[in-house]
Amino acid sequence: MCGIVAGIAERNVQDILLEGLRRLEYRGYDSAGLAVLDEQNQLHRRRRVGKVAELGQALAETPLIGKAGIAHTRWATHGSPTELNAHPHISSGRVAIVHNGIIENHAPLRAELKALGYNFESETDTEVAAHRIAYYLDRGDDLLQAVQHVVAELEGAYALAVIACDDPGRVVACRNGPPLVVGFGIGEHFVASDVQALLPVTQRFSFLENGEVVDLRRDEVAIYDREGDRVMREIRVSGLTAGAIDRGQYRHFMQKEIFEQPFAISETLEGRVIEDRPLSPGVLGVAAEALLPQIEAVQIVACGTSYHAGMIARYWMEEIANIPCQVEVASEYRYRRHVVLPNSLFLTLSQSGETADTLAAVQASRDEHYLARLAICNVPESSLVRESELVLLTHAGPEIGVASTKAFTTQLVALMQVVLLLAQSRGADAAVMRRLRGELLQLPGLVEKALALDPLITRVAERYVERGHALFLGRGAFYPVAMEGALKLKEISYIHAEAYPAGELKHGPLALVDADMPVIAVAPNNDMLEKLKSNLEEVRARGGELFVFAEPGVALENGPGMNVIEVPGGSGMLAPVLMTVPLQLLAYHTAVFKGTDVDQPRNLAKSVTVE
Ligand code: G6P
Repeated sequence: MCGIVAGIAERNVQDILLEGLRRLEYRGYDSAGLAVLDEQNQLHRRRRVGKVAELGQALAETPLIGKAGIAHTRWATHGSPTELNAHPHISSGRVAIVHNGIIENHAPLRAELKALGYNFESETDTEVAAHRIAYYLDRGDDLLQAVQHVVAELEGAYALAVIACDDPGRVVACRNGPPLVVGFGIGEHFVASDVQALLPVTQRFSFLENGEVVDLRRDEVAIYDREGDRVMREIRVSGLTAGAIDRGQYRHFMQKEIFEQPFAISETLEGRVIEDRPLSPGVLGVAAEALLPQIEAVQIVACGTSYHAGMIARYWMEEIANIPCQVEVASEYRYRRHVVLPNSLFLTLSQSGETADTLAAVQASRDEHYLARLAICNVPESSLVRESELVLLTHAGPEIGVASTKAFTTQLVALMQVVLLLAQSRGADAAVMRRLRGELLQLPGLVEKALALDPLITRVAERYVERGHALFLGRGAFYPVAMEGALKLKEISYIHAEAYPAGELKHGPLALVDADMPVIAVAPNNDMLEKLKSNLEEVRARGGELFVFAEPGVALENGPGMNVIEVPGGSGMLAPVLMTVPLQLLAYHTAVFKGTDVDQPRNLAKSVTVE
């Protein structure tokens, strides 16, 4: 949350930083700002409330000229989204700073700095770091030393980038929690919250570790560890290109990402799943072959949409691999004591690989007796990938829309691969394994067919726009599908939506059902169908309006209070993936009709790097 981009070059940096902010806007978008040091070593700053485009407009009218600069797009934690609270923050007219994260001991530091005569302009925790750096510069530190001193005092999670009039030839940045990547150009160097921000200027990157400080100069980059010792870090060349985040022909990134799912799923299967051959354990890493047969239990930990993927996988894990599986949200897992079953695998799911709670849960797991940590993640360079012994990447490509779509379905595809690997290692029936591999390989084509429901779902969505609430129902592995459908709808259309296991309806939510409460149900043609149908009758009998996403053969008739939308069949165990697609489309079109900001819904951010 919050995006940082900063750099020092032989050319003016404003446009580079502004483009970086546009590419980081998924991290926060309530205000944005940029500051540069000019040729006379004076600081200039522009800040605006709202989207990066507002800042872009202000800079187009009055550009900032300077060859060293810092920039920020904010997701407010301390202090409301006003111009005064927007970053960069400046101390004493000479130090400018941008910050991502939370400085937990800001209150005592603020009191101390006030007593020393520093004036606070904002309500942010960030401003204490700006004043504290100015304080150390006054005592004779250079900018690098000042930042190193301040880092030793700060508690919490933060990434900072700083420029100062006193020491104009450098940008100093540091990381303790939120990610920071260093971009290497020719005669210019940058830092940013992610690789995407810097792709227009470089493809060569190094990744800062927690506790490290980086000193960027035009001709040199030096990284220091917590003790102040210089660290040598390899430079990696990214395979990504700047164009990868274009919206193309689509109206929104979310729409594009929904329609990219057949390709993203194919990419996640590519080279790993072949119908007539068992999966190779090597896809998880070299240690996997020896580890897999030892695994007797799985603990899945994740947040948001990734957590829903984990919930679906639990059904697969127990049914196909016969392995006990627990799933928990990371923010809960990290703060409680657990009984870890013998020979357990710790499995994390994360699109970004930077979610603070998930990373903290991984840290917590190190003190517990897990056999290994496996991460399923979409970002190869992420902290989560670097901190896990085993990794399975989803090849979804960059996901920009805050509401996760293709990351979710590719996570499910990766999870099924893990389930198959575990089942194989326990001697599962070869014919069943072959059938499931076949189902995986057919999935891209079936998702393509589900996407063809788009015009029909657009018409259904039109009827939702005026509704304030919705109930989603599912049973078994389709209960988390219902949860994901409800989450999508509330995230982007702001319609209050709740999901229930259909059997729970009569234990409370049925009281809410009347003609104004649409009930969306997911109806696979499986052995729970008759039970689900009884639940649907309970809704109908109370005048509720049903929208049922049904597999062929479910034999539900359209009629008063009953709208049936047939979803392609033939996906077998992977039906939860297929059923998700129409729910994504429903949320998307409802939001478009409502006129909300689909890609950047209010109050949310794509990458949640604070607790
Ligand atoms: C945020 C995003 C969600 C995402 C969740 C977990 O809430 O808005 O789309 O599911 O974080 O993110 P992760 O990157 O760990 O999957």
